[in-house]
Amino acid sequence: MKSEFQSQYSTKVMEHFMNPQNVGQIEDPSGVGDVGNPTCGDIMRLFIKVEDGVITDAKFMTFGCGAAIATSSMVTEMVKGKTVEEALEISNRTVTEALGGLPKVKMHCSVLSEQALKSAINDYYERQDKPSPVNIPEDEHEQCDLYDSDEEE
Ligand code: FES
Repeated sequence: MKSEFQSQYSTKVMEHFMNPQNVGQIEDPSGVGDVGNPTCGDIMRLFIKVEDGVITDAKFMTFGCGAAIATSSMVTEMVKGKTVEEALEISNRTVTEALGGLPKVKMHCSVLSEQALKSAINDYYERQDKPSPVNIPEDEHEQCDLYDSDEEE
């Protein structure tokens, strides 16, 4: 039976929080993304391995809340098998949807996973001396404010 606190979270969020997938690091990664949430101090590092333009592996290390861990776990699952270009289309919204939603106050946590993925892909392009198509907002806090707003969907 779910506790009062657990009932705020979908079954999928709880599964990924209790049993996160792809925790750890990749030896010899193709790209690494490091991001932090300036509001809560949570940090996330995401590794990708790319072969022939396809992400064959992804791992993460997250020092953060349950929502941050669940979204990290889900995003690493979602990117595997996708081309780098396809992976760039993953947003915090798509990750959250795949998790069956997050409480509104925790939406900012999912921004971290999108930023970590974009940062890792950006690093992948930089390592190859290729122009990066990745657009990472400089101030991630703005993103948090965006999702902390009172605006209903
Ligand atoms: S409270 Fe910091 S990422 Fe969730």
